[in-house]
Amino acid sequence: MNKIPMLDIKKQIAPIRQELDAAIKNVIDSTGFILGEEVRNFENDVQAYCNAGYAVGVSNGTDAIKLALLAVGIECGDKVVCPTFTYYATAGAIASIGAIPVFADIDPETYNISIESVEKILKKDTKRRIKAIIPVHLYGQCADMDVIMRIARKYNLKVIEDTAQAFGAQYKGRKAGTIGHCGAVSFFPAKNLGAFGDAGMVITNSKSTADKLKILRNQGNRDRYYHSVLGYNNRMDTIQAAILKIKLKYLDSWNKARQGNAEYYNQQFKSVDIKTPFVPGYTTHIYQQYVLRLNCHNVKLIEYLKAKGIDARIFYPLPLHLQKCFKYLNYEKGDFPESEKAALRVVAIPVYPDLAREELDYIAGSIKEFLQ
Ligand SMILES: Cc1ncc(COP(=O)(O)O)c(C=O)c1O
Repeated sequence: MNKIPMLDIKKQIAPIRQELDAAIKNVIDSTGFILGEEVRNFENDVQAYCNAGYAVGVSNGTDAIKLALLAVGIECGDKVVCPTFTYYATAGAIASIGAIPVFADIDPETYNISIESVEKILKKDTKRRIKAIIPVHLYGQCADMDVIMRIARKYNLKVIEDTAQAFGAQYKGRKAGTIGHCGAVSFFPAKNLGAFGDAGMVITNSKSTADKLKILRNQGNRDRYYHSVLGYNNRMDTIQAAILKIKLKYLDSWNKARQGNAEYYNQQFKSVDIKTPFVPGYTTHIYQQYVLRLNCHNVKLIEYLKAKGIDARIFYPLPLHLQKCFKYLNYEKGDFPESEKAALRVVAIPVYPDLAREELDYIAGSIKEFLQ
């Protein structure tokens, strides 16, 4: 068996290569390399795909979170709640505007933000410095948005959905990212809908928020050379938009193939002592990652699979409250037990759409062998 990577983008590109080449050529011929026509076209397509009011193309998913926070009025010194068990960028974006990340624990079943943990934090915030919450739709399934929105209304919080890993997933029939005040999307190449470089998008149903986002992403320009606010260079490249516009047509079929692979794994692992992903009834799962939970240290399985030529990963080995860069927030080991436990137990295995049946069997077989 050849080596199996976490993702083989070449296999995804091959069947649509001609379409992609033509789209890239068009952008080169147009010379509108930044915020060109294809950016507007792709924004319109995403807006329609998500049934959202507005979609604003930006430089990457991290900037999408940052700009969304600014657009909804979060300021330097405000506190923003997010899970500690997520990719760095969720909290990094908060800190980048001088706001203060406030970490919450996760639900051990879904790995998404724990509602109890959030409520505990909000009750303690008697000075009402917490102004927003960022639920992360981790691995590709949605956090319980109705409950989060109810809490947000009670405490007057803005809600930014970190939809970096869940673009295309649905919460009770609505697309991830369209329920909060904003949804921040990443089109990092390894995402289910990936660009050929960095790209991102903010989705919102508010016209005034969309207008602010368009100014913020483009140096605070309202009209050229007239800067109404302190903005950033966070614009989307036209080549990325043109590529993503082509790929968006295939996204649902790719997500379906991931779901098929996940279902196959679920069946394979029924008879062994390993926890397969739990998907609550309120959300679909697009399996950006297919994550197993072990009863032993996850590194052991990672090493076992590596020796067999199978790439597997730990998302994430160290929760954010224990990261050196967030030491200034004064959290300690033991503060978020479910996140700390998950970091030692979870293993993501390849689930990308183009995996062959023999590869799925080889991966599942190797894991079963390890567990014996
Ligand atoms: C949960 C989460 N948030 C934010 C980001 C940041 O996205 P980007 O890499 O496009 O800046 C990522 C991407 O890896 C992510 O997984």
